[in-house]
Amino acid sequence: MSDLQVNFAGLKLHNPLIAAAGPITGNIDIVKKLYDAGIGAVVTKTSFIKREYERWVGRKNIFPYKPVYKYQGLADGRLLSLPSQSDVPMEEFAKRITEMKKLGVTVIASAIGLSVKGYRECVRMLEDAGADAIELNFCCPIPEFTSLYTHAGDAVSMNPKLYAKLIKVVKRTVSVPVGIKSTVNLLLYAKVFEGLLRAKIANSYPDFITLVGQLDQNPGIDINTLEPIIPHISTFGWQGSLSKLTYSAVSTFSSSLGTDNPHIAASGGINTVEEVVTAMALGSTAAQLHTVILDKGPGVVAKILEELKAYLDSHGYSSVNDIIGKTSRNYIPSLLIGRFMRERDSLLGTVYAGVDGERCNGCSICERVCTENAVIMQDKKAVIEWDKCRGCNLCVLKCPRGAIRLENYNKLEEMIEQFKFSAAATSFREFMKKEKIGLGDVIALPGKLKRWGLR
Ligand SMILES: Cc1cc2nc3c(=O)[nH]c(=O)nc-3n(C[C@H](O)[C@H](O)[C@H](O)COP(=O)(O)O)c2cc1C
Ligand code: SF4
Ligand code: SF4
Repeated sequence: MSDLQVNFAGLKLHNPLIAAAGPITGNIDIVKKLYDAGIGAVVTKTSFIKREYERWVGRKNIFPYKPVYKYQGLADGRLLSLPSQSDVPMEEFAKRITEMKKLGVTVIASAIGLSVKGYRECVRMLEDAGADAIELNFCCPIPEFTSLYTHAGDAVSMNPKLYAKLIKVVKRTVSVPVGIKSTVNLLLYAKVFEGLLRAKIANSYPDFITLVGQLDQNPGIDINTLEPIIPHISTFGWQGSLSKLTYSAVSTFSSSLGTDNPHIAASGGINTVEEVVTAMALGSTAAQLHTVILDKGPGVVAKILEELKAYLDSHGYSSVNDIIGKTSRNYIPSLLIGRFMRERDSLLGTVYAGVDGERCNGCSICERVCTENAVIMQDKKAVIEWDKCRGCNLCVLKCPRGAIRLENYNKLEEMIEQFKFSAAATSFREFMKKEKIGLGDVIALPGKLKRWGLR
């Protein structure tokens, strides 16, 4: 029987499934059901310290917070919205964490503040309550606070200096592992990398990062072979379900940083065992589930765990750790994607599809998928018009007979390998693995950021 245990940021979890912060983890009864269903850990709902909220926002008695849309239903009974803000303050969550710990649950406490002092106070309170780890909420948009919200939620991910400063403050305040939850989209991903880099320089690298994917999309993998559906690129406009945004964020980070420096948790659209396996093969050690639990109830966790075991057994993996990051090596480090796309164009006209007429059965799938109209069917065989072909590889991936290959594909492969192990990618990875950071690194930071494509 396969082993589901993982080491996530120093926490020994029974399995990689974590209940993500939200209404499901604000309620002790649901947390008990999640525990009974076998959840690996829960991240508590984010809230604010009452005193800090009153001090900064200047409103008394804000809690219990009652947004007008709270549990507002449509006339026919359909749910319109759940509250994104907590209706109880952090002080109350601290008590709930202590209760959760009595049940035996591994608790990662979500923390947020409105000031540096507030973060200190908040994480101290959460650690004292028994939290096993802290997840700093640098992901939620918090429009309520307008100018005040510079220190809370996704505003922090936009500000690499503050990002690093808050991690440093928190790491020095508590002794449990500290992670960040960041939204990653095309505007933010370089900033999040820069924030991590600055945290590294400040000798306060986080233990984990939970990525809420809003980057462009990664079309996923074939979970039988763990090979990518479309290899090498995990961005630029693939469409599909929300999980594909998360896959992109995970492969972007794992192909640049590796899988355990920091550990990665995937959040967003992870609803099935296939999605858990994909997120892990792309580089995450844990998968956070939220909407699927709201939709199907806590019992869904037990179902996914059974399916995960069955998947590992039937594919010959003795441990879930064997799949972590297996696919991420197929991706070019995201820092270099822009440069790669530009250089790849120089191969236009030299890399093109060729059909093996013996193997082709005339199914015409390649003709249907080619976006360049470069395939014509002649005498029930596919023929490529080379002057139209862009060498994109799509027909190769889709041909059920393996009858197409890219002529001169080695030129493209050489370029891909060059990019994977280019000086910029290698120096970035090595820097992130370095044990000690010196003053020289701090002084050289602006130049390094430029060289790594982060500025
Ligand atoms: C109603 C609601 C409330 C949420 N509250 C929080 C929160 O307090 N803190 C947080 O970090 N994420 C919060 N989230 C985000 C979830 O933890 C999760 O990252 C997101 O829903 C994507 O995952 P999913 O596709 O599994 O739902 C909330 C999401 C929803 C839908
Ligand atoms: S997809 Fe393959 S088998 Fe089908 S027509 Fe094209 S080359 Fe032939
Ligand atoms: S490689 Fe791309 S452009 Fe060329 S024939 Fe195949 S699908 Fe069309």
